[in-house]
Amino acid sequence: MLERIQETAAYIKAQMTTSPETAIILGTGLGSLATEITDKREIPYNEIPNFPVSTVEGHSGKLIFGKLGGKDIMAMQGRFHYYEGYSMKEVTFPVRVMRELGIKRLFVSNAAGGTNPDFEIGDLMIITDHINYFPEHPLRGKNIPYGPRFPDMSEAYDKSLISQADAIAEELGIKVQHGVYVGTQGPTFETPAEYKLFRIFGADAVGMSTVPEVIVANHCGLKVFGVSIITDLGVEGKIVEVTHEEVQKAADAAQPRMTAIMRELIKRQ
Ligand code: HPA
Repeated sequence: MLERIQETAAYIKAQMTTSPETAIILGTGLGSLATEITDKREIPYNEIPNFPVSTVEGHSGKLIFGKLGGKDIMAMQGRFHYYEGYSMKEVTFPVRVMRELGIKRLFVSNAAGGTNPDFEIGDLMIITDHINYFPEHPLRGKNIPYGPRFPDMSEAYDKSLISQADAIAEELGIKVQHGVYVGTQGPTFETPAEYKLFRIFGADAVGMSTVPEVIVANHCGLKVFGVSIITDLGVEGKIVEVTHEEVQKAADAAQPRMTAIMRELIKRQ
């Protein structure tokens, strides 16, 4: 495993002309941040040894190196989901490669269903914590010596990055919510009873990604900042049919606000 990670990192490093410390994983329908990256160098996933290949609509699948907010960054346009059939090792493989490339901070974004009755479609939710509801743990198996066997998760989402993002949102006049994200395997959206269960669990939003990458990032010692775009509501009385297209449409409308916060947050690192 470690050898494969290092082989992949060596391939990417040979093409890198910058030394980014921040990486961003762009979620469903959230690829437009990539258009704001300048001085771009792109590597399609299918050219990278050992990299899984992304299959879902809305995920074009490439690594992008360039500048955002005046800083060198690395972005993953398209992530690997457990529901696509990838193992947890594959889903989180790129995060381990990031660590080998010298990345110190991971920014993640996703589309999620809101279970908090105070949320509205289109809201941005800064992720303060998560609940791992996937059926397989990404760190199951032999421990990779990037971190301890039993990693601490008391601050999976860096408090300092959250408070900087809050200050930025206020300065820019962008409304943000805060909350707990529960990650499930999908690919079904939730039944009303499942949304209710997740609310009782303490979740404010539910989605099919992010948690595995965040766990592995923490294991690797990366600081994490995450934003969910609330694309539909799993709130009693407000539940309607959800489609992937609607999720993408709602995510699209909120992208400029998320990008503005991410760009400024990167600038301040
Ligand atoms: N549930 C799970 N994943 C999602 C949802 C949802 O309601 N919306 C967007 N991704």
